[in-house]
Amino acid sequence: MKLRAIAACDLRGGLGFKGTIPWNVPGDKLFFREQTLHKTMIMGHKTYQSMPQHAFENRTSIVFTKRKIQPLPPHVFFVHDEAACMQLAMQKDPKEAFVIGGSEIFNLFFSQKMIDELLLSWIPKTYQNDTFFPLHYLETAMEKKRMFEGEGFTVYRYTFRGKFP
Ligand SMILES: NC(=O)c1ccc[n+]([C@@H]2O[C@H](COP(=O)([O-])OP(=O)(O)OC[C@H]3O[C@@H](n4cnc5c(N)ncnc54)[C@H](OP(=O)(O)O)[C@@H]3O)[C@@H](O)[C@H]2O)c1
Repeated sequence: MKLRAIAACDLRGGLGFKGTIPWNVPGDKLFFREQTLHKTMIMGHKTYQSMPQHAFENRTSIVFTKRKIQPLPPHVFFVHDEAACMQLAMQKDPKEAFVIGGSEIFNLFFSQKMIDELLLSWIPKTYQNDTFFPLHYLETAMEKKRMFEGEGFTVYRYTFRGKFP
């Protein structure tokens, strides 16, 4: 299985502020939507709470939480650990899944070297942020390529030595 991460950050690696994303870059939203449509998304509970319900249509969402959450919305699955997450992700789509954040979940997956590829949109400004992408993991990439230039963002593809066959 290919485990891909997708994120957008500002020049200081900022990801979010007070539970939301501090910028509005429509092209990057579209890029995210195109990449993840009909795919499996893996995220933390705070990211899940920050997204509108329609974002979970046409995709499978696996959400990390330590709580017991009921009722379960359609296409959304709550997990308590990486093993349950990977088992579910394999079941839903054995080819690939997208880790979409936030910071706690990027840290969890990068620290365990589980990520094969990262699509990182750089927003060339600085914003007020309280949540950051763990930029030091970029130094462990085997390859970095500019993938896409959009209005107000540039996407780079970082390749890592992933863990899953
Ligand atoms: N710019 C971007 O690309 C991007 C992408 C995603 C998110 N964001 C932003 O990032 C912010 C949210 O990120 P965040 O780091 O604060 O939170 P997060 O990673 O989205 O979620 C954290 C939550 O996930 C659960 N969790 C984390 N580790 C776990 C583990 N090992 N086992 C079980 N559950 C675990 C816990 O939920 P419980 O408390 O329920 O147990 C924890 O409170 C928001 O501002 C959001 O808008 C930005």
